[in-house]
Amino acid sequence: MGFYCDHIFPRLMEWVMAGDEFLRLRRELLASAHGKVLELGIGTGMNLPHYPETVTELHAVDSAQLLPKTIAARSARLPFPVRIQRDTAETLAYADRQFDYVVSTWTLCTIPDPVLALQEVGRVLKPGGKFLFLEHGRSDDRKIAAWQDRLNPIQNVIGCGCNLNRRIDQLIAQAGLHITQLDRFTMKDVPRLGGEMYRGTVIGAG
Ligand SMILES: C[S@@+](CC[C@H](N)C(=O)[O-])C[C@H]1O[C@@H](n2cnc3c(N)ncnc32)[C@H](O)[C@@H]1O
Repeated sequence: MGFYCDHIFPRLMEWVMAGDEFLRLRRELLASAHGKVLELGIGTGMNLPHYPETVTELHAVDSAQLLPKTIAARSARLPFPVRIQRDTAETLAYADRQFDYVVSTWTLCTIPDPVLALQEVGRVLKPGGKFLFLEHGRSDDRKIAAWQDRLNPIQNVIGCGCNLNRRIDQLIAQAGLHITQLDRFTMKDVPRLGGEMYRGTVIGAG
């Protein structure tokens, strides 16, 4: 990945995402998680402090290994086991229908083939299990979306593969998943280019 993406970017991410709004959004999203959970793109483990004690085991995949000591320290404080695999979300090494919850936060912007990764989510989710997502993406405001398109090549470089302009709900639909609940909102503490949010739930098919 290179020195910038492996060492500088994760520290930048920790700094940018340290604010109260990020913490609240993570906490609220994860409050209902329980049982066996899979997180896509765990990054530096910023969700770890927000998982409730109703989680029994947490599995995570990430194509990179970012700040491993930080992740280890955060994992050590949890009352359930955390197992992290360096792997891509597009090719999950898990059997079908085994997770109660799958979680993705600020990750579908970056995964190179998000539709394939979302198809994998549908495969590993138990019938009735939940996929919780909290992602930034394409604005409904045409002027903002036009700027997202213009600045996307720069964001791709400074955000290590991050895209500003993905329509997250459409990607989920393209993967054959059905969104049962979707909130669209704009974060207050982030410029609109990166703060147009998609938060919601998909229920695993029977
Ligand atoms: C912007 S970071 C978000 C990290 C974390 N989800 C969070 O909420 O703080 C995006 C993460 O997705 C990971 N990623 C990118 N492509 C991936 C892939 N194909 N499979 C799994 N993880 C991937 C990156 O390595 C990075 O850790």
